[in-house]
Amino acid sequence: MPSSYAGALVAVRDVESLRRRVQAWRREGRSIALVPTMGALHKGHLTLMDRAQKMADRVVATIFVNPKQFGPNEDFQAYPRPEHDDFEMLNAAGVHVLFAPDAAAMYPNGFVTNVRVAGLSEVLDGAHRPVHFDGVSTVVTKLLLQTLPDIALFGEKDYQQLAIIKRLVADLNIPVDIIGVPTVRDADGLALSSRNAYLTPAERAQAPKLYTAIVAAAAAIAAGGDVAKAMATARDDLLKAGFREVDYVEARNAETLAPLSNAREPGRVLAAAHLGRARLIDNVAI
Ligand code: PAJ
Repeated sequence: MPSSYAGALVAVRDVESLRRRVQAWRREGRSIALVPTMGALHKGHLTLMDRAQKMADRVVATIFVNPKQFGPNEDFQAYPRPEHDDFEMLNAAGVHVLFAPDAAAMYPNGFVTNVRVAGLSEVLDGAHRPVHFDGVSTVVTKLLLQTLPDIALFGEKDYQQLAIIKRLVADLNIPVDIIGVPTVRDADGLALSSRNAYLTPAERAQAPKLYTAIVAAAAAIAAGGDVAKAMATARDDLLKAGFREVDYVEARNAETLAPLSNAREPGRVLAAAHLGRARLIDNVAI
């Protein structure tokens, strides 16, 4: 059988059916990749699917808009759910199985366990979205244990999420390799995101400033410039460009996410800012 057969995507909604399929592949000696998503798929997600296809014999994509990772005033209800388009995109991409459980399958009555990655979950986005990373850590742990893939792929677009997942997999001895995939951008630099759909045309035109501001900050730091000054300039640039509020613009150690002490350690500039209805995040290497 060929390693990919575009057009034969099977959707499963419960853990038992997922496990049966994965176990059959295991018996055939196939390697398995997992790509978790919340749907509203775009080219960023599809790049993860492509990479997964190249690295493993079988690809499981998941779509689950995870209620636990949305705060009470966040966009859980409004989050886009174009189920038909998503299915077609995964099918055309040659993904083998789509696991799309509903909330009752993922969190049955009596569910009380919470996975919390201390420290890493409390800074940056975690400081602004208190329940968010516990929700991500809990659902990703479940998806990894439900599927038991060889590899799982995540985007650098959500850099802090990627760092947290690497940590929890190491801490809990989950036998999977976590693969980080570089951020996919539009031609003008804006990182692709399902939440870009919230932008009006005027806001969409302003949005790439998030990328150009952090690129400029990273370049200033790399050239030996003062970190605090670079961050203040980036923040000013964003407010001048029409961003309503800047949650943070920070230079951090690329692995620990601790504040950057000098430009010789591997660094990352990370930012989150509000534009109209959308809260956009982005990050770049220093
Ligand atoms: P979601 O936002 O749908 O993203 C799914 C995966 O696609 C994540 O690993 C994310 O980092 C990656 N991704 C999104 N935009 C990208 C881009 N422009 N370039 C590269 N990769 C990109 O992240 C989540 O869902 C959820 O938190 C999840 C991990 C599924 C847990 O619920």
